[in-house]
Amino acid sequence: MSALFEIRELSKYFKLGTRREEGGRNPLLLKAVDSVSFDVLAGECLGIVGESGSGKSTLGRLLLNMISPTSGQVLYDGQEISALKPESAAMKKLRGDMQMVFQNPRSSFNPKIPIVRSLHQVARLYGLSEEAAEARIRELFALTGLGQDILTHRNDELSGGQLQRLAIVRALIPGPRFLMADEAVSALDVSVRAQILELFRDMQQRLGLTVFFVSHDLSVVEYLCDRILVLYLGKILESAPADELFARPLHPYTRSLLAARPRAYPEEVREEAPLAGEIPGAVDLPPGCRFSSRCPEMVPGLCDFVEPADTEVSPGHKVACHLLRHCDKIEAGGAPEQKGCEECGASVGKEKVEI
Ligand SMILES: Nc1ncnc2c1ncn2[C@@H]1O[C@H](COP(=O)(O)OP(=O)(O)O)[C@@H](O)[C@H]1O
Ligand SMILES: [Mg+2]
Repeated sequence: MSALFEIRELSKYFKLGTRREEGGRNPLLLKAVDSVSFDVLAGECLGIVGESGSGKSTLGRLLLNMISPTSGQVLYDGQEISALKPESAAMKKLRGDMQMVFQNPRSSFNPKIPIVRSLHQVARLYGLSEEAAEARIRELFALTGLGQDILTHRNDELSGGQLQRLAIVRALIPGPRFLMADEAVSALDVSVRAQILELFRDMQQRLGLTVFFVSHDLSVVEYLCDRILVLYLGKILESAPADELFARPLHPYTRSLLAARPRAYPEEVREEAPLAGEIPGAVDLPPGCRFSSRCPEMVPGLCDFVEPADTEVSPGHKVACHLLRHCDKIEAGGAPEQKGCEECGASVGKEKVEI
C-alpha cells in the first residue's frame, strides 16, 4: 500500500506565556505533539490511542492542516500541505478530500437549522447543484441505512446514534478519500456504538476510504483498525499492526492501557497493574522517557535521563523503551515473554545499556 499521508518529525508546541529565568524570560511551552513520524497508508484504518491529554486531537488537526505545525511536515499525496496556510485557497480545494466526524453529534449540527438544510448547505459548499445534492444525499442515506423519514424530524427528536449517522453522511457528501474520526463513538451508548463502528467499517471498505481513528478506548480501535499508534504526551511509544499489538504488547504503557480495559471475564488473573496516577502535564517535561514517572518497570538513572529511541522489534512493530533495546530474543525476532524478556528485560541496568 502506498502512503496517503507522510508525517515527518511533526511537532506542535503551544506557548502558554513566558517565565522569568536567569538571563531573561523564556517561553513556557506545552509540547502537545513532539517530533512524531509515521505514514498513513492509502485504504487503511489507522488507530490513535492514548489517555486524554496525550495529543491525539492535536495530531488529527495537524494532519488535516486545520492548525499549522511548530516544525516538521505533513505530506498529502506527496504535497507538503503543512506549508499551506489553513485558510488558503489551495487548502480549501483539498478540504473535500479530507473530512471529519467528531465526538458529540448533537453539537456538530446547528439545532436551529433543519438537518436537511445543513446537509444541502454542505453539498452547495462543495459545488453540487440543487439536484445533484438531492441525489447525493438520497444515495448516502441508502448507503448508511438511514430512512428518508428522518428528515421530517426536528433535530432534538433524533437520537445520538441517528445524529452520528447523519454526521457521517455529511462527511461523505463531498466524496472524501480520507476521514478523521475523533472519539466518534465515545459519547454513544454501547449498543449504538457497535452499530456506528460497523458503519465506519462498512463505509471504509465500500468506498475505499483511508481512516484516521482517534480514541482513548482500545476496544474500539481493536475492532476497527488495521494498525495502531500509541501516543503518550505527544510521543509515539509503540506502533504495530492491530493484531500484533494486542497479541504482543511490549511497551509498559501499552500493557497498562490494556490492563485498564473492562474485562469480559472478571475472574481472569491479570499480570499487569492498571495505570496509577494521572497523565502529567506536557509542560516542563522531564528528560528521559516521558512515561518514566508512572512506569512500573522504570530503571532509575536510565529511563529518567535518556529518551529511548525506537526499536523495530518485528516488521512494522516499533517500540520506544529502554527495556527492549537490549533484548536479544526480541531483536532476533523471537516471541518474547509477555512481560518483555525475562533474561534482559527484567535485569536491564544502567551498566548494560550503551548511552
Ligand atoms: N489550543 C491549545 N492551546 C493550549 N494548549 C492546548 C491547545 N490544544 C490542546 N492543548 C493541550 O495539548 C495537550 C494535548 O491535547 P489534545 O490534543 O486535545 O489531547 P487528546 O486529544 O489526546 O486528549 C493537552 O495538554 C491540551 O491541554
Ligand atoms: Mg481529544
